[in-house]
Amino acid sequence: MTEESESQVDASFIASDGDIDASLRPKSLDDFIGQPRVREQLQLVLSGAKMRGGTPDHILLSGPPGLGKTSMAMIIAAELGSALRLTSGPALERAGDLAAMLSNLVEGDVLFIDEIHRIARPAEEMLYLAMEDFRVDVIVGKGPGATSIPLEVAPFTLVGATTRSGALTGPLRDRFGFTAHMDFYEPAELQLILARSARILGVPLGDDAGAEIAGRSRGTPRIANRLLRRVRDYADVRADGVITREIARAALAVYDVDQLGLDRLDRAVLGALVRSFGGGPVGVSTLAVAVGEEPATVEEVCEPFLVRAGMIARTPRGRVATAAAWEQLGLTPPPDLTIGGIEVRANEPQQGLF
Ligand SMILES: Nc1ncnc2c1ncn2[C@@H]1O[C@H](COP(=O)(O)OP(=O)(O)O)[C@@H](O)[C@H]1O
Ligand SMILES: [Mg+2]
Repeated sequence: MTEESESQVDASFIASDGDIDASLRPKSLDDFIGQPRVREQLQLVLSGAKMRGGTPDHILLSGPPGLGKTSMAMIIAAELGSALRLTSGPALERAGDLAAMLSNLVEGDVLFIDEIHRIARPAEEMLYLAMEDFRVDVIVGKGPGATSIPLEVAPFTLVGATTRSGALTGPLRDRFGFTAHMDFYEPAELQLILARSARILGVPLGDDAGAEIAGRSRGTPRIANRLLRRVRDYADVRADGVITREIARAALAVYDVDQLGLDRLDRAVLGALVRSFGGGPVGVSTLAVAVGEEPATVEEVCEPFLVRAGMIARTPRGRVATAAAWEQLGLTPPPDLTIGGIEVRANEPQQGLF
């Protein structure tokens, strides 16, 4: 498949994203499939607060895109019976933007700040006080005549979502009472998610077809749901609408989704690492330049999955391709492949590969 037809596929994914996401989002903690630890921990945090009749501690949701952070924020508000106010880090450019948001909160509200690591510094500093003492200091005027007017904020729960918890400043991270780390989903969990989505969309999806799609979804519910829609298109247009394993395989071949679900960027990064840098070690920003992407995208979107899949390892000197990565590209790993000083044999079980 050419670069161009691949990007067309990506565009169609994005176009239908809004409606898929809305209709397929889980609505309650019980409805939420996977992430058992996070669900149990959140259940305790929320139930404890409800029992005491107060607002729960501020909650940080961290993890790669598409794993359910926004869905979970909505569920937190729903479980508390509270209203959800939505904003994002990049939207809070000035402290005044945040002050307006905070002063409109009603007691018990859940304020959701998506991409909270991208919040501007003055807004972040205002947020410290709001999170801790439920008040803000609004500065009126400039220079020596400026005065600070304290403003009360109704007790609220902040839910922050981030793909880069490491990029959060210490003071901000410390003000969250609970951090939920979302991890990639197991194929069995993705299969349950797909069965649920198929039910909602009214798509006949066979068990083995569900397993086929789940295994190629990159551990990510959002991708699983996208692939389901694309496979449904294929089943409707080229068959009788029923998704069998054969139909799923044929459709996924058309969309160039490989066995592991690696996407274009994943493959580009692996290709550059192995072919241009001899398997590494190489720094993430050099790697990003080689594939024409932002370092942050490579680091937040691509790398976590490739590490989890046992394809690349992070070492103090940079990123290194494992034997599995060489084999994935149809190449023979060098016989003396070492990672962080440890020799890695080609026939070693691929750790973390699911
Ligand atoms: N645990 C889950 N169970 C069912 N569907 C899920 C789950 N997590 C995510 N999804 C689906 O994936 C989509 C993307 O999730 P979202 O919450 O927007 O992820 P994030 O905010 O982490 O990028 C949602 O619209 C929903 O359809
Ligand atoms: Mg989101």
